[in-house]
Amino acid sequence: MTTVRLGIIGVGSMGAFHLRNLLDKKVQRVTVTAVCDIDPAKLAAYPDCAHFTDSAALIRAGVVDAVLVVTPHYAHTTIGIDALQNGLHVLVEKPISVHVADAQKLIAAHTSPTQVFAAMFNQRTDPHYAKVRALIQQGELGELRRVNWLITNWFRTQAYYNSSAWRATWGGEGGGVLLNQCPHNLDLLQWLCGMPAKVRAHCFFGKYHAIEVEDDVTAYLEYANGATGLFVTTTGETPGTNRLEITGDRGKVVVENGTITFHRTVASVKNFCMSDPSLFGTPEVWQVQIPAHDSGGQHVEILQNFVNAILDGTPLVAPAEEGIHSVTLANAMLYSAFTDRTVTLPLDAAAYARKLQELIATSTLTKAAAPKAAADLAGSFNKA
Ligand SMILES: NC(=O)c1ccc[n+]([C@@H]2O[C@H](COP(=O)([O-])OP(=O)(O)OC[C@H]3O[C@@H](n4cnc5c(N)ncnc54)[C@H](O)[C@@H]3O)[C@@H](O)[C@H]2O)c1
Repeated sequence: MTTVRLGIIGVGSMGAFHLRNLLDKKVQRVTVTAVCDIDPAKLAAYPDCAHFTDSAALIRAGVVDAVLVVTPHYAHTTIGIDALQNGLHVLVEKPISVHVADAQKLIAAHTSPTQVFAAMFNQRTDPHYAKVRALIQQGELGELRRVNWLITNWFRTQAYYNSSAWRATWGGEGGGVLLNQCPHNLDLLQWLCGMPAKVRAHCFFGKYHAIEVEDDVTAYLEYANGATGLFVTTTGETPGTNRLEITGDRGKVVVENGTITFHRTVASVKNFCMSDPSLFGTPEVWQVQIPAHDSGGQHVEILQNFVNAILDGTPLVAPAEEGIHSVTLANAMLYSAFTDRTVTLPLDAAAYARKLQELIATSTLTKAAAPKAAADLAGSFNKA
C-alpha cells in the first residue's frame, strides 16, 4: 500500500474540519474515499467519494483501509469496535469513550499488532507540552511535588450547547467540560505527570448554562509518591486562564501565554531543606526561558502520524489505548462529586457505568437522541 484509503464517519463541524485539511492535501499519502453521516444532507458537499448513512455499511464496503471516527461520544466505542473487528485501522476522536468500561471494551477489540489504533489528542503536538514532558522525563525537574492546572479558558455560550441535540446531555455526550473540552488537558496531565492514586472533586452541573452536565470543576489529585495536584476548569468563565504549573524537587516549570518558564533551583530542594543551616534561606533559583514556538501541527500532524504509522510503522504520537487515562480521570472526578467521597484509582468501572445509566434514565433534558444514537447508547451499556 502506498496511499491510505480513508473513510470519515461523522461529518459535523469537526468531521468537516478534518475533511477540509485532507481535501486541501495538508496530509500526504492519504485519499478520502468515503464519508458517512446519519444525516445525508451533510454528505452532499463531498461529491468525489462514496456516501454512506450507516457506518456498518461503510466499514464492510471494501472502499477504505482506515476510518476516522468523528461522531458524538458514545458512537466512538460502537463504531470503533466494529471497524477494528473488521480489520480497519482506526483513528478515533477524543474522548475515546464516555466511560471506563466502554474504553476497556474498545481497547479489547484491538487485537492485531498490524492494525493502527490512534486517538486525536492533537494537543500532544504542541511543542510547549512536548518540551515539558522531555524536561520531566530527563529528570531536570526532579521528583514531582505538585501540579496545578488552571484551565478556565474553555468558555462556551448557551448557543453552543443548543447547536446539537447530543451536546451537554448524559445520554448524548456523557458529561460536560470533562468529557468534551478537557479530554485534551486530562490526557496531557497524565502524559506529563502520570496517573494520580486518588481523586477528590467538586463539580457543578449547569451552573452557568441551561444544561444537565458539569460546567465547573475543581479537583484535588494525590499521587503515589505524595505529590498533590489541583485541576480547575469551567466553560462558564471569561476571560479565562490557562496556566500549568508543575513543581518538582529541582524547581518549577510554568506554561502560560505561549511561554515555558523553568524556575530551576541550583540544588535539590529536599537536600537544601534538610542540610542548610539558615532558618529562612531558600536555594538559589535560575530562571530559564525554554523556547517553544506556535502550537505545533495539531490535527494535521496527528492525521499524518496515523498515515505514517499505517504505511511505515512510525510510532504513534497518541496510541488510542492511552486514551483510557483521560476517561478514567474524567469519570473519577464526576464519581467523586456524585458520591461526595475521595475516589481511589483504579476506578470501579462498573459502578460508574451504573451511575451514568441512572443519570440517563432520570434525565429531565431528553433532548432526544436520534434513533441511531440510542443504538450507540445501548451498545455502550449492554456489556458494561
Ligand atoms: N480534537 C478536537 O480538537 C475536537 C474539536 C471539536 C470536536 N471534537 C470531537 O469531534 C466529535 C464530533 O464533534 P462535532 O463538534 O463535530 O459534533 P457535531 O454534532 O457537529 O457532528 C457530529 C456528526 O456526527 C453525525 N453522527 C451522529 N451519529 C452518527 C453515527 N452513528 N454514524 C455516523 N454519523 C453520525 C451527526 O449527524 C453529525 O453530523 C466529538 O467526539 C468531539 O468531542 C474534537
